[in-house]
Amino acid sequence: MKIFAIETSCDETSCSIIEDGIKEIVTITTSSANLHLKTGGVVPEVAARKQSDSILPAIDECIKTSGLDDLSQIDKFAVTVGPGLIGSLVVGVSAAKSLSLLYQKPLIPVNHLIGHIYGNFINNEHYKEIKFPAIVLIVSGGHTDLVLMKDHGVFEYLGGTLDDAAGEAFDKVARLLGFSRYLGGAELSRCAASCTDKLNYNLFPRAMLDRDNYDFSFSGLKTASLRAYEKNTFSVSQLAYEFEASVVDVLVGKTIKAAQKYKVGTILLGGGVSANKKLREQIFEEGKRYNKKVFFPNLSYCGDSAAYIAGAAYFTYKKMPKKQLQDIIPDPSLTIMDVYP
Ligand SMILES: Nc1ncnc2c1ncn2[C@@H]1O[C@H](COP(=O)(O)OP(=O)(O)OP(=O)(O)O)[C@@H](O)[C@H]1O
Ligand SMILES: [Mg+2]
Repeated sequence: MKIFAIETSCDETSCSIIEDGIKEIVTITTSSANLHLKTGGVVPEVAARKQSDSILPAIDECIKTSGLDDLSQIDKFAVTVGPGLIGSLVVGVSAAKSLSLLYQKPLIPVNHLIGHIYGNFINNEHYKEIKFPAIVLIVSGGHTDLVLMKDHGVFEYLGGTLDDAAGEAFDKVARLLGFSRYLGGAELSRCAASCTDKLNYNLFPRAMLDRDNYDFSFSGLKTASLRAYEKNTFSVSQLAYEFEASVVDVLVGKTIKAAQKYKVGTILLGGGVSANKKLREQIFEEGKRYNKKVFFPNLSYCGDSAAYIAGAAYFTYKKMPKKQLQDIIPDPSLTIMDVYP
């Protein structure tokens, strides 16, 4: 089954055709991130306008690159309906509805956060080793959630951040340390990896790690980073290293604790921060120690991509309540537990 998906939740315009939820035929993604560098953050109206400029060229390029004559060979359409910026979501949902009407094929509404999980299945030759129940850690720019995945589309919420998302904390501290003013998380991480004079002590707290729950808090870490920076005692790479170590210790510690408690053998990561090298290495090592199989999406499916929206649609549509086209509407405030939006 071929699904054509559209993702426009924030500043990426992405279209993808995925076969049977696992095989990528084509994905075209453009980003307006360079516009947001100037303002040091997304201005929603600027992002929405750019979505509107980019959506038709992205659809067009997706069809041309796919080798298909047109979209009549597509079985279903899928689209991100939330969470995200309302103006950006409206562009993608409107385009997807038009295609669904034109080609008379069903449209599947997808929660972007559920989408992140399905990045693990695409172009992964080992996807059949993903067994349920599994523990899922979603770590992105806007979300940090830990859930128990009992089956495709069946989730139990375990915990999440009480304040900043992990990616948001990376970005705020990156800006403080003088990296990019917009999405500096990856830059901060590269600097941390280059640190040659590590302090090797826990400069920053491991917030909530010893609590008997699956919640997170990263806003204190931001303040602690600021205080340490103001002291002028530590180098930027030392601070980057200590910050990253603190975030990764907490993410890995809580995820492994959940995997042990719920006796699962599989751990899945998703979201932009799951591209983080230290997080990948540390959770993989800990997973080995506790006999858990750990999966991460390919790097191209960590950030926003329509590929995993098509994947999520494929694996969940059978359980999804049927919806009329007019009832498929953007919802910026969906949570990970709104599995069938
Ligand atoms: N290597 C890395 N290390 C740490 N953080 C990273 C890395 N690469 C990307 N990020 C962070 O990932 C985030 C972007 O991820 P993503 O695109 O999934 O988030 P989003 O779309 O803003 O939020 P959401 O998906 O929750 O709506 C940014 O905060 C970015 O700094
Ligand atoms: Mg996203």
